[in-house]
This record gives sequence, structure tokens and C-alpha cells, in this order.
Amino acid sequence: MVAPARDVSRGFRGAPASCQPLTVQNAFESYPTVVSKEFDDRRDVDRGPRGVVADWVLAMLRRSAGVKGSAELLLGRIIAIANQKGGVGKTTTSVNLAASLATEGHNVLLVDVDPQANGSSGVGVEKNTIECGIYHALLGEVTLEEIIRPTSLERLWVAPSSRDLAGAALELAEMDEGQIRLKTLLSSVRERFDYIVIDCPPSLDLLTVNGLTAADSILIPVQCEYYAMEGLSDLVNTIQMVKDNLNERLVIEGILFTMYDPRNNLAHQVVNEVRGHFEDKVFETMIPRNVRLSEAPSHGQPCILYDGSSRGSQSYLALAKELKARLAAAA
Ligand SMILES: Nc1ncnc2c1ncn2[C@@H]1O[C@H](COP(=O)(O)OP(=O)(O)OP(=O)(O)O)[C@@H](O)[C@H]1O
Ligand SMILES: [Mg+2]
Repeated sequence: MVAPARDVSRGFRGAPASCQPLTVQNAFESYPTVVSKEFDDRRDVDRGPRGVVADWVLAMLRRSAGVKGSAELLLGRIIAIANQKGGVGKTTTSVNLAASLATEGHNVLLVDVDPQANGSSGVGVEKNTIECGIYHALLGEVTLEEIIRPTSLERLWVAPSSRDLAGAALELAEMDEGQIRLKTLLSSVRERFDYIVIDCPPSLDLLTVNGLTAADSILIPVQCEYYAMEGLSDLVNTIQMVKDNLNERLVIEGILFTMYDPRNNLAHQVVNEVRGHFEDKVFETMIPRNVRLSEAPSHGQPCILYDGSSRGSQSYLALAKELKARLAAAA
């Protein structure tokens, strides 16, 4: 297959020079320029800007010294949003959690591995204009940096999908290390982001397996409806398979209730049943059914840009804060 034309101007802003030996000096130089420019804006970040830069330099130096684990703890937590059940709010959660973390002052990459490309269009990338997306990167035709684009929200970038990806699960199955292609791609950029959020397709195919293999954790959106528990055992089995064979560090980041309507008695039953099974893995934050969340994608915007005061936006901001607090408590 002929490699598609590359449009470098669409590439990753602030990408540091790659492939140079790391020293203290060039670790500072490789700190993303976009972050450096926003240095003063980041005083609200928990550890303060000095701490952020110190973490970055430490992570880069540790990486160069081959101390992988420590660097991974400091930067670039990779969270796969997955549930093979369709329409449960995976994409809505991926886009709005990523946008909320960016709004909180973090550099975030949204990786869309769903051929439907709803996550990409949800942050303003027109599906039909994607010549070169995650499909081409997974197949090794371009680097990940070449496909990463900025979005209209500061600090939020996207590695877009495209319809070509529909055939990728089969193509990956025939490739060497087809299950770890995404992990390999993300390892080249993870130090530049505080969070990487992967929007998975509604299946347990090789694309989702790639997402789970690349991730530190999985966040499972669950819709408050009668069949909510159906399929969760298959998902848990898949997580265990990935842990046993491909990615032993994978953990469940949490179960998130979506489209919650407190007036619906069934919703309470579902919440109780799922809490009974997953206990403290369930996020306190619940995402309400909110029309602004469903309207925002048609404007190509995360809800925080479309209507920041809506209950939908505010609940995803609360989720981002809860996630950060949990991670801080576990560190
Ligand atoms: N909290 C919510 N309130 C109102 N509508 C919502 C909410 N969450 C999601 N939706 C709507 O429900 C539909 C399905 O959501 P979404 O696309 O996020 O699910 P999904 O799990 O990614 O679907 P798929 O399995 O097809 O990838 C969309 O139309 C979306 O706008
Ligand atoms: Mg989706």
C-alpha cells in the first residue's frame, strides 16, 4: 500500500527533536514548547510549575537511564475507555474526560481507535478529511507524531481515527506483535502528556485488545439500564486475559455510571447491583443524562466549550477531579 501524503503542518505542535541523547540540558529543551508557553498559566497545577518541570526532567532522565517504571508513574497515564456494549457513553466519556483534564491544566492526548471516528469528530476533526490517522500509524506507514493534531481546546490533542480502521483488526491479526502495536506507538509520545485517553470500539476485537495492552488502566462506562451487567463478565475476562498475557500492570481505574436519571427507579437498582459487584471501584461521580452532552458533538466541540456551565460539563469536570484525587491517594 502506498503511504498517504503527509501534511506536516497538521503534526504535533511542540514536538521536541527526537532521537537525540538525553542530557539535563536537552531534557529541558525537549519539554513541550506549548507547555513552556503556558508555564505561568499552570500555577494552579497541584505541585506548581516548578514541580511540573522537575517531574518532566526527572522522567526524561530516568527514561534515558532505563528506569522505566518511575517515569511511567510520573507522566502520561494511559486510560482506555472500554465496554464492548454499544452506546453506553464511551466516546462521550473519552472526549469530555480528556477535555476536563485539559481544562484542569494537563496536557492530554485523545487516541481514537474506533473506526466510527466519533471521538475525532467530537473534538472537531471532520471524519471525511482524515487522510492519515491511527490506522496508518498502527500499520507503520507514518509515525504517531505525524497524525497528532491540536484541537480547539488548549492542551488537548487528538490522534484521529478514520473509516479505514474498520479492516485493521484483521490486518493486525496477521502482523507480528499485532496486539502491542498501539503500546509501541504510545511509548514514543507518552512522556509529553500527563494523560492519554483511548476511545475503544464497541467490541472485544484486536483494536480493543491493543487499547488495553497499551493502557495503565481501564475506565468502564456503564449505562444505568436493565442490561447494564450483561457483558461485564466477558469484559472482565478479557481484562484478565490481557493482564495474564500482554499487560500485567493493567488495572480497573473505575466503573462510571452514564446517562443517570435519578427519577428512574431502575437506575437505582442498577447502581446498587453494580456497586455490590465492584464496590469501591465505582466512581462516586455519576454522569447525568444531559442534552448538552448529546448536542456538543454535532458542533465538533467537547461539552466544556459548547456549554461549560451545563450539568454534563460539570459532571465530567467532577469526574476528572475524582480521578486525580484517587490517583494521588494511590501514589
Ligand atoms: N450523559 C449523556 N446524556 C445524554 N446523552 C448522552 C450521554 N452520554 C452519551 N449520550 C448520547 O448517547 C449516544 C451514545 O453515546 P456514545 O457515542 O458516547 O456511546 P459509545 O459507547 O461511544 O457508543 P459506541 O459503542 O457506538 O462507540 C450518543 O448519541 C451520545 O450523544
Ligand atoms: Mg463510541
